[in-house]
Amino acid sequence: MAEPIGIEIRNLYKIFGPNAAALMAAVRDGMTKTELNDKHHHVLGLNNINISMPAGRIQVIMGLSGSGKSTLIRHINRLIDPTAGEVLVGGENVVTMSPDALREFRRHKTAMVFQKFALLPNRTVLENVCYGLEIQNVPRARRVEAAMRWIERVGLKGFESKYPNQLSGGMQQRVGLARALTNDAPILLMDEAFSALDPLIRVDMQTVLLDLQKEIRKTIVFITHDLDEALRLGDAIAILRDGEIIQQGTSQDIVLRPADPYIESFVREVNRGRVIRADAAMTALPEGAAPAIGVDGTTTLEEAGRLMVENAATSLAVRDPASGRPVGMLSMEAILRAVTSRGE
Ligand SMILES: Nc1ncnc2c1ncn2[C@@H]1O[C@H](COP(=O)(O)OP(=O)(O)O)[C@@H](O)[C@H]1O
Ligand SMILES: [Mg+2]
Repeated sequence: MAEPIGIEIRNLYKIFGPNAAALMAAVRDGMTKTELNDKHHHVLGLNNINISMPAGRIQVIMGLSGSGKSTLIRHINRLIDPTAGEVLVGGENVVTMSPDALREFRRHKTAMVFQKFALLPNRTVLENVCYGLEIQNVPRARRVEAAMRWIERVGLKGFESKYPNQLSGGMQQRVGLARALTNDAPILLMDEAFSALDPLIRVDMQTVLLDLQKEIRKTIVFITHDLDEALRLGDAIAILRDGEIIQQGTSQDIVLRPADPYIESFVREVNRGRVIRADAAMTALPEGAAPAIGVDGTTTLEEAGRLMVENAATSLAVRDPASGRPVGMLSMEAILRAVTSRGE
């Protein structure tokens, strides 16, 4: 399996319009998206984006429609050229790659999963999943072997001879995922990949992706407009608005410390018990004996609460996951306080 690679985005700007380069200075000096639109009829797609995407983890980019998410992810494999800035993948700048190098990079380093599945309608599941390797002239026996492994892994064994229109939306997206994984590229780019699915199917697909990721350890860039999805999937989350990043952090950071009222308004609707960890809500260990039952600090409050109920306990010890030593205590009251808090 390919080694995970990190992605560094540095001082990235994208202005849409014929005089983009000439307007860079004005944008660097602080011209807003609205001003640029009103005065110059150019669209400020991305405004000074800086992100370090961790190798082998899931980086979520979240934002409402029109905030610049697709523009950003398309810079990673240079489907869009920036007006200024750098996109470093494993230290190599994608922005300055020659056409040949770029073609190789796209083919071997990246795979995409699309919202609309983009399956070939007159090819079977197997032939769709094999497609990338076919283009790379991999011998048929090897392509089929690789494809069947991933078809099985996404739960589609037995469906390999079906055609896309014989499958439900969720199953079609499993094909999309298997196709992307069969390429064995270290980077997976997913632009609203689950957004067209019904809510329950969508949650299923999130589970499939999280389970797979434990094994595949790819650098996944996952775009969504849904905060619950972002919090569930993201090892790191960046929130975009009007082409700018307004907050970056973990799920915890975003839910516990929303950067502004806009993010706060999203966060208010979130199930805090599924995001906040025991170590964020714990209090000091009592003198003397610690509670008999313990959980790792990374346990969610929901899981901790469930454990309390099952064991008829009113408090738990919270352990440092590395050393296993108790570092705090979590009471039922502390859980309730954290999950019912409105962020004050
Ligand atoms: N080719 C283009 N020409 C002009 N404006 C564009 C183009 N592509 C995107 N935009 C504009 O850039 C902004 C960001 O778009 P997009 O990245 O598609 O947002 P999102 O994916 O978050 O919905 C929007 O204001 C959109 O209208
Ligand atoms: Mg988009």
